[in-house]
Amino acid sequence: MTEKVCSHHKGKQKRFFQRLCAILLVVAFILLLIFLITWAILQPKKPRFILQDATIFNLTVPAPNILTTNLQVTIYSRNPNSKVGIYYDHLHVYATYHSQQITYYTQIPSVYQGHKDVNIWSPFIYGTMVPIAPYNGLALTQAQSNGGVDLKIRLDGRVKWKVGAVTTGRYHIHVTCQAYIPFGNRGTGIVIGTGVKYQLSQSCSVSL
Ligand SMILES: *[C@@H]1O[C@H](CO)[C@@H](O)[C@H](O)[C@H]1NC(C)=O
Repeated sequence: MTEKVCSHHKGKQKRFFQRLCAILLVVAFILLLIFLITWAILQPKKPRFILQDATIFNLTVPAPNILTTNLQVTIYSRNPNSKVGIYYDHLHVYATYHSQQITYYTQIPSVYQGHKDVNIWSPFIYGTMVPIAPYNGLALTQAQSNGGVDLKIRLDGRVKWKVGAVTTGRYHIHVTCQAYIPFGNRGTGIVIGTGVKYQLSQSCSVSL
């Protein structure tokens, strides 16, 4: 009799542990699923940037170590995410030549870019009588007479991601756009007032 009770108890215990195991497995699976879904949602794609055109009003080297720049660029920006919104903050644009900054920063107003939204920015960027490295001044003068100048248009700022009602902390964003200005071939540009507009349609690199 006692034996029977004992084996009966053992069977109950075994079933209990089997059930516990099954429940733990299901819970672990659900947790894994929640983790994977959250990870997939919170893994936002970088926004896309395209430098559409640049209008050059002035790019003059009055002395080898002095540069005056005045241009306007059109920058297209798109949020490719369907579940994540992007806040842009402290975004500023400037131009560099051979890694040297040649213009002041131009601020772009803070903006929220919704799911799949597009923004077009047309900032003026300029620098009047900016001191530059003399070898850069010489290289620029030479490049200008040789036909084209390789500028870079850069954007730096901060982004915050918005998922549902949750907004993340700030991340730095750096955008670099190649801007080859074909001075020698003015036929490719369109004269606009005192400026010449060049169509560039250049995809920019984005790092976060
Ligand atoms: C371009 O800049 C130079 C040097 O600062 C200046 O002398 C010239 O008047 C400017 N040209 C235009 C069209 O603004």
